[in-house]
Amino acid sequence: MSELPDWQIEIDAGAGRWQAEVNAAESLEALRSLEVQALGKQGEIPALMKRIPQILPQDRKGFGQAVNALQATVAAAIEVRRQALVETLIAAELNDTSFDPTQAALPLRVGHPHPLSTVQADIEAIFTSMGFHVLDYPEIESEFDNFEALNIPGWHPAREMQDTFWLESGHLLRTHTSSGQVRAMHEFKAPFRAIFPGKVFRYESTDASHEHTFHQVEGLMIDRKVTVGHLLDSMRTLLSAILQREVEIRLRPGYFPFVEPGFELDIRCQVCAGAGCSACKRRGWLELLPCGLVHPNVLRAGGLDPDEWQGWAFGLGLSRLVMMRYGVPDVRLLMGGDLRFLSQF
Ligand code: PHE
Repeated sequence: MSELPDWQIEIDAGAGRWQAEVNAAESLEALRSLEVQALGKQGEIPALMKRIPQILPQDRKGFGQAVNALQATVAAAIEVRRQALVETLIAAELNDTSFDPTQAALPLRVGHPHPLSTVQADIEAIFTSMGFHVLDYPEIESEFDNFEALNIPGWHPAREMQDTFWLESGHLLRTHTSSGQVRAMHEFKAPFRAIFPGKVFRYESTDASHEHTFHQVEGLMIDRKVTVGHLLDSMRTLLSAILQREVEIRLRPGYFPFVEPGFELDIRCQVCAGAGCSACKRRGWLELLPCGLVHPNVLRAGGLDPDEWQGWAFGLGLSRLVMMRYGVPDVRLLMGGDLRFLSQF
């Protein structure tokens, strides 16, 4: 029997030692670091190759083959061990009684439209069926469109009726959807009819019936001959369709510089049935639908000849209508984002 060279003895011993270490690895992480230590780029087994210059020339081929074989053996051992560890983990997971595959899944929470969106969509459907366009106008407006075009010059006391958020640019956050009236007159050829729903902003303190950000729907109809009768009929159609019941309404004279004559249309408070509550400020009635015939100055600002064209306009308080439809006692709930409130709809 020929004597084995020293390196052969060393490599054989290495194989036994690595095998033992691999089998002793108790976790996938431990096994991984062992793998790096043995076979990685800077690992101990590849490092053996650096010893080739010290090996007798006739042994070099054998040495290289032996190192490669060692590398393959250790790699195979690691794979076997890894498989065993993975199987142990799976078995442990399957035996884990705290995991119950028959348990029902968590309830899925499905969202739904906000009540403001629901009522707005209903209003859009009603007016679309009556031949109205639905328009979307900017929330940031010019002083001209929000005030001047509506017959409210800078010195006019009516400016104080609507406290305004002014922007540094001189623009403002529209205080009412009426800011779209003159835009619409320029955009469409008379005759036309349109509604423009949207958010409006007022720089004022909030209470149960006032919010700094709320929703309106403007309605505008321009034709050669329109009357207050048309206006009231459209309002009645709207209210009974949205509230799905007969509601008591009353008409009062109302002052807005952009209509003449102007009206306030009130409805019986649907939250308290007229007894008085926070939503109607204990009055039993709610101002819901200011409206009137378009002022000649506004027609002129819109490029229309008041001797030829007439119009009516309304500014429906959408937030208030939602409150009336669902019996919501406080307007601040609508934009408050409280899911306990919103999930009721
Ligand atoms: N823009 C008015 C407001 O917000 C309401 C209104 C609209 C009145 C149209 C008359 C006609 O107070």
